[in-house]
Amino acid sequence: MRPARGGRRRVRWLVPVAVAAALGTAACTAGPEAPVPGTATPSASRARPVPALATPVVVAGPPHLGPDRTAGLVPRLAAMRTDAFAVSARWATPPGATEFGDALSSRVAEAVRSYADEHGAAWRPGVDLVAGGVGGPCWGGSLLSVPPASLTVDCAVVTTAGPLVGERVVVTRREAGVATSISRETWYSDAATGAVFDGSALYATGQEARVLALVAEGLRASGRIAPGVDPFAGADAGAVHAVLADSAVTPSGVVVTVPVAGEVPVSVHVPQRLLDPLLSEEGRRAIEVAAGGAPYDPGASPAGADPVDCTLVACVSISFDDGPSSLTPGLLDVLDRERAPATFYVLGPAVNSSPDVARRIVDSGHAIGDHTWRHADLTKLPDDQVRREVSRTQAAIDAATGAPATSLRPPYGASDERVRKLVGLPVVVWDVDTRDWEEPGVDTVVQRAVGESRPGSVVLMHDTHEPTVEAVPAVVDGLRARGFTLATVPAQFDGELPPAGTLVSHGPR
Ligand code: NI
Repeated sequence: MRPARGGRRRVRWLVPVAVAAALGTAACTAGPEAPVPGTATPSASRARPVPALATPVVVAGPPHLGPDRTAGLVPRLAAMRTDAFAVSARWATPPGATEFGDALSSRVAEAVRSYADEHGAAWRPGVDLVAGGVGGPCWGGSLLSVPPASLTVDCAVVTTAGPLVGERVVVTRREAGVATSISRETWYSDAATGAVFDGSALYATGQEARVLALVAEGLRASGRIAPGVDPFAGADAGAVHAVLADSAVTPSGVVVTVPVAGEVPVSVHVPQRLLDPLLSEEGRRAIEVAAGGAPYDPGASPAGADPVDCTLVACVSISFDDGPSSLTPGLLDVLDRERAPATFYVLGPAVNSSPDVARRIVDSGHAIGDHTWRHADLTKLPDDQVRREVSRTQAAIDAATGAPATSLRPPYGASDERVRKLVGLPVVVWDVDTRDWEEPGVDTVVQRAVGESRPGSVVLMHDTHEPTVEAVPAVVDGLRARGFTLATVPAQFDGELPPAGTLVSHGPR
């Protein structure tokens, strides 16, 4: 395991002015663009003939892989809208906790928070910008309208093969109809070596100028620049890094995308044969792995264990009370398949009769909470019985899962100051009630859960009613289509629930 090269680096939002100016003023007699070998777009992601390119050549753009090559990646969306501005950020992270996911998430957080800050607003995650849903990793969804000013973070998965994933992240701002590129970078994660790096690390140290010379050769060959012009002359280290950071690995080489002042950027494919002596160890390995074409393998991690920052994205918690029941294993199958985390408020006797199910809840990355022993209204019980209702169930949960619950949901949501002081846990209720116990029909449960949720919502359901379990796939899809990210209740508080005795009905918003 080598240390990550890009993860902790603080990368500046650089636009290489010298480079952009040289290209922008160069002759604009664009030559024919070749397709990028081994690439695809979400709308046309089937194999196409791969020409054997021997020289650097301008291509239509870096790869943008579609659903057939991005299965396993987790889509993320962060949005905020005010009268003055809108932010829409989209990216994809590998499942489970990874340094790559953290690196992308923190880059997005930095970009959107500083943009909101610039407009005198604190970042508050919302979902209102999305029409047609988040879709898959880096595809689907759209803005409902364009306000006067906006910031967008777009992503494209450029490569997935075996342990390797490469993702391009483009930050663009628009003011009065004019778009300005803030940054374009392609990030890589190699799960086999543990390396996380941006495109500039594909090249051996000291070989940057020779790589750029090959890129310039491609620009000249296509007529993008005049013979004899070196668009990278005088570029400082920061500008060179900014260009090379946007290097997309393909099975046959690398596509370097160069910014052009006032125009769409130009992408140049440099074949592996020419690059080979200039590549770093990571770069050589990345092209080799991409050329191998093995299906993406993100490694095993439990469903519901994907890290989420609910101060960045709009989260909703779905919660299930009164189980585990005979329906719970089937529900867990559904949640596993959907990679959807949930929170279960369990009854002590039910845990004692199905300890394996309680354990599976925790092992799958879901949260478990205390729903008392007898399901009595705690406000009507004397002190000692209130304590006993909670502690007996805590003991059952501890025995089944190895740890007691970290929050209590009182039966009927009923608690008062006396009860909350007695129970020694934060008291979690809900702000969206599906009233599924009345069995109003699958559609109504879905409509309430999806339609009434807001950022931070906690949705009440019961894993003791068959129509509820039937509704769950549509609830998960519907919430995600609105732009929400599912998170457990503790995850909404970054694992640190408010102190014992606090009444909680939703996450931070
Ligand atoms: Ni209940």
